[in-house]
Amino acid sequence: MGKFSELIREMTIQEKLAQMTQIMGDCFVSQGYGKLMGLSYGFDIPEELAWNIGSVLGMGGAEKLRRVQDLYLSHNRHKIPLMFMCDIIHGYRTIFPSPLAMACTWQPELVEKSARIAAKEASVSGVTVTFSPMADLSRDARWGRSIEGTGEDPFLNSLYAAAFVRGYQGGGVGNPYQIASCVKHFAAYGAAEGGRDYNTTSIGDYDLFENYLPAYQAAVKAGCRLVMSAFNALNGVPCTGNRWLFQDILRKEWGFDGTVITDCTALYELIPHGYSETVEDAAASALEAGMEIEMVSTAFFQKGEELVRSGRISERCLDEAVEHILELKDELGLFENPYKDLDEEKEKQLHLCAEHRAAARDMAAESAVLLKNSGNVLPLSRQQKIALIGPYADSQELLDIWKCEGREEECVSLFQGLKDKADCILCPACGLREGAADLAAARKAASQCDVTVLALGEPPEMSAEAGSRAYLTLPQEQLRLAEAVLETGKPTVVVLFHGRPLELGSLAQKADAILAAWYPGTEGGSALAELLMGERSPSGRLTMCFPHTVGQLPLYYNALPTGRPKQGEQDEERFRSRYLDAPNLPLYPFGHGLTYTSFSYSPVTLSAQVMHPADVLTASVRLRNTGDRAGVETVQLYLRDMGGSRSRPVRMLKDFQRVALAPGEEKTVQFRLGIEQLKYHTPANGFTWEAGAFQVFIGPDACTENGASFRLEPDPQ
Ligand code: GLC
Repeated sequence: MGKFSELIREMTIQEKLAQMTQIMGDCFVSQGYGKLMGLSYGFDIPEELAWNIGSVLGMGGAEKLRRVQDLYLSHNRHKIPLMFMCDIIHGYRTIFPSPLAMACTWQPELVEKSARIAAKEASVSGVTVTFSPMADLSRDARWGRSIEGTGEDPFLNSLYAAAFVRGYQGGGVGNPYQIASCVKHFAAYGAAEGGRDYNTTSIGDYDLFENYLPAYQAAVKAGCRLVMSAFNALNGVPCTGNRWLFQDILRKEWGFDGTVITDCTALYELIPHGYSETVEDAAASALEAGMEIEMVSTAFFQKGEELVRSGRISERCLDEAVEHILELKDELGLFENPYKDLDEEKEKQLHLCAEHRAAARDMAAESAVLLKNSGNVLPLSRQQKIALIGPYADSQELLDIWKCEGREEECVSLFQGLKDKADCILCPACGLREGAADLAAARKAASQCDVTVLALGEPPEMSAEAGSRAYLTLPQEQLRLAEAVLETGKPTVVVLFHGRPLELGSLAQKADAILAAWYPGTEGGSALAELLMGERSPSGRLTMCFPHTVGQLPLYYNALPTGRPKQGEQDEERFRSRYLDAPNLPLYPFGHGLTYTSFSYSPVTLSAQVMHPADVLTASVRLRNTGDRAGVETVQLYLRDMGGSRSRPVRMLKDFQRVALAPGEEKTVQFRLGIEQLKYHTPANGFTWEAGAFQVFIGPDACTENGASFRLEPDPQ
């Protein structure tokens, strides 16, 4: 007997189906309190559904949510509290850099802290569930939603997914200032063919279990309380109707005991997928697959009773779904206190408070990646006269489209951050968001100054959901502006504001320095100014590579070698796996990032040349700061399995350490390798290991050749 068996027995089928439905929050407030907005996404919301709805989407604010909860409970027969869910992707009111930017810190503990702050700001505004982390691995910068994830590597993505869950949920979702976390989009949404959002995904077992599934599983292991179905069809079966994915893998193999929610209207989309012919079919398929909350569409409510009466769906299926939903509300403590942490006063105190702004500023500084710094043109100095040019020079558009309650007008622009730290002139006509820049003015400003900072980028609406691009170049107007400035021959620093790896073209050769700032969030300008002026050094490392050209995509470091691998970028042999007109390697690889000093690595030493399953192998390098400034190096350890029952990637990230060294300081950096890191997924035996030759590489990015070999052998008989 479950805690809610009695209550569920008292509920009508329609009440159960309403509990399994989620509508837009504005249904309750759009025509004034007490009146219901009839439509939400074109779906009628009759009174019976509205006053029994299980949860609402996309609404926040202490005063508003208190009134909606009071209004709702005054109508709900069973006094079951409403749950408020939002997309809190990288902050609620204080906005942190986008997740793909935060991933470049290689500091899961920092991401956990950002999630904890986001949960605190959201909870005092009455929100109790976030649709985060987005754990979709992405190898294709054409896909606009790459910005919402943490990149191309399963190991890092898993660390980050778990860190987000810990930050949101803390020791339990019922604790003060914690909210429930929903990992999404299950599964492999990021493998959309052609990088085109919502497109088909076709993935073999190996790639699915080795690369695409681990981060979702890490979120489940970390205790996330919801899982969201993805829009895409996975190997021909749309995720929202995919029993294998949700029943066999998520529930049975991984033991997930929380609540499953569809993505927005994804249930109805089973029809255009050509998977369901009618709304009844779609509702039945989704229920059989294990969907428990239907987001925004109302097929469950419209067709569920008929499906139960006809025997096509058992009422037990509804009861199990409702039980998970009520258990989630109970874990959040909503039956005792339907408002949880909702608090109008605390909302005023906590939102954008100095502590939260400082955390966002720190994260923005740690997220930026110094891609290039020829002649150490960075950091700049107070003695230099700086021309600040470009559409992002004084822009407050530093938030991606998933900005929750964040507001551009509360963002610190690059000029605002720089003006008190440097002799900086803003050339406003030199780079308008719309329309032609004044190239003559730009040339003149650059010529009159010692150095130019060119603030370029792509507008937020060109990435995130439905933000797929077939070309990854900067807008032509910006390239013309850059050309005009570069023609002056003065040192030029490009700062990029962007939602994905871009195709930089000749800018990569011509600019003296390039700093990837992503969408840096509320405190972006102040953080970037600290980096540019050398008050702190950049230490970010890419978790998604920058291609030379979009024609190389999908492009990722942990690729299989093929039978005709190119022997280095200089290999001109025709019959190799290569392009005639582009390199194989990216412009800036996974793991790449510079700082204001330099480091040297000794060759790799291993504690043994042969390892047995019970052994721990130690791999070490001597790391030295060979520059004249302190710095942090992210030392990365990659593994390669040279042979087995299937081909394995040329590199797999298995560990990393961030090492701070003073100028001239040296340190031995040691890693421990155990059998778990040598296992891989085989259809017959799941994750297992095989004897054979391996290579270990330790270096500054995925292209490192600093390696040593060892063999894994079975225990001696
Ligand atoms: C959107 C997104 C999903 C989001 C949901 C609710 O379509 O795919 O990531 O959580 O709808 O806003």
